[in-house]
Amino acid sequence: MGITFKRKIRHRGQEIGIDLGTTKALVYVRNKGIVINEPTVVAINNKTNQILAIGREAVEMIGKTPPHINAIRPLVNGVISDFEVTEKMLRYFLEKSEKKNFLGNLFNWSRLVVSIPCGGTEVEKRAVEDAAKSAGAKEVFLIEEPVAVALGMRLPIQESSGVFVVDIGGGTTEAAVISLGGIVVYRSLRVAGDKLNDDIIYYLKEKYKIAIGERTAEMVKIAIGSAMDLGTNQDAKIKGRDLTKGLPKELKIKEADIREAITPSLNKIIDAVQGTLEETPPELVSDIISSGIYLSGGTSLLRGLDKLISDNIGLPVKIVEDPITAVIRGIGLALEDLNQYQDFLININREKPPV
Ligand SMILES: Nc1ncnc2c1ncn2[C@@H]1O[C@H](COP(=O)(O)OP(=O)(O)OP(=O)(O)O)[C@@H](O)[C@H]1O
Ligand SMILES: [Mg+2]
Repeated sequence: MGITFKRKIRHRGQEIGIDLGTTKALVYVRNKGIVINEPTVVAINNKTNQILAIGREAVEMIGKTPPHINAIRPLVNGVISDFEVTEKMLRYFLEKSEKKNFLGNLFNWSRLVVSIPCGGTEVEKRAVEDAAKSAGAKEVFLIEEPVAVALGMRLPIQESSGVFVVDIGGGTTEAAVISLGGIVVYRSLRVAGDKLNDDIIYYLKEKYKIAIGERTAEMVKIAIGSAMDLGTNQDAKIKGRDLTKGLPKELKIKEADIREAITPSLNKIIDAVQGTLEETPPELVSDIISSGIYLSGGTSLLRGLDKLISDNIGLPVKIVEDPITAVIRGIGLALEDLNQYQDFLININREKPPV
């Protein structure tokens, strides 16, 4: 650790925040709030390389497209996998959010705060910054997702007490202990909601010889999925293709099936939480014992997951308010005063070597 320069962040033009998730993007405009909430999906014509639709419209195309139209997700496990498409998608979301406010075309003066997973490599961080800049942003700051969550909840992360945040999204699970404005210990795991969907697809194929699509898997997970036996025993009808006969098939599946399918992945999430805690310095552990674990991200809404984690780890677990918007609300707070919160922000170009 060295001494770093703190330059005053000038306020000119517009400040925008983006939670650039594996499954969705939320855009926050300062003084305006959340203006965009759309899936991070892009439909592309392979023959012409043309983008046909972005966001909600593109999702409608998933699984229904002719062979030359591909619905892709340019972010995989929280990290940019297709730079060019990410840049175009960002530009689309930014332009769309511009239209919704009355400040005129201040686009090139925009300062952008973008969330990233914990412990991203320099190359990954640079890719986010470059994509945002070529999409029109003038200056880009990055913020790690759990830090944004803690900030949004106004947890005491500027102080020396430890705060434990676990964000379980679509692509990644991020478990992080934060103290004095920074992440002290973290684990970033590429197991989250998308993996649970894959688990369900695989399980139903193996057990019932039925092929279902990603959207069906997600729907059934949200409808009857549970992390532990809550005594509800719900069931759901699913439609898919019979793998032995090749014909359409309807099947009733049980809550217990879904639970069995996703349990191995849930255990990996619990291991990551446990591992993070094991590496946490004892002084911070004692803070966490009293404050507990804060759960955020869409997958924290899986029924019984909070209790499963609590039972296994032996700490109280609280789901934060509106867990799907927790990251963007934290970014929104940072946007209100970038100077006050600059310790939490990563700006690759501003970081100077120690003097
Ligand atoms: N009620 C629910 N029960 C279970 N899972 C849910 C529920 N609601 C949303 N999800 C899941 O939450 C995930 C999306 O969460 P979130 O919006 O936090 O992800 P993200 O920010 O796009 O991804 P990441 O942060 O990993 O890049 C999806 O996998 C979705 O299926
Ligand atoms: Mg997220």
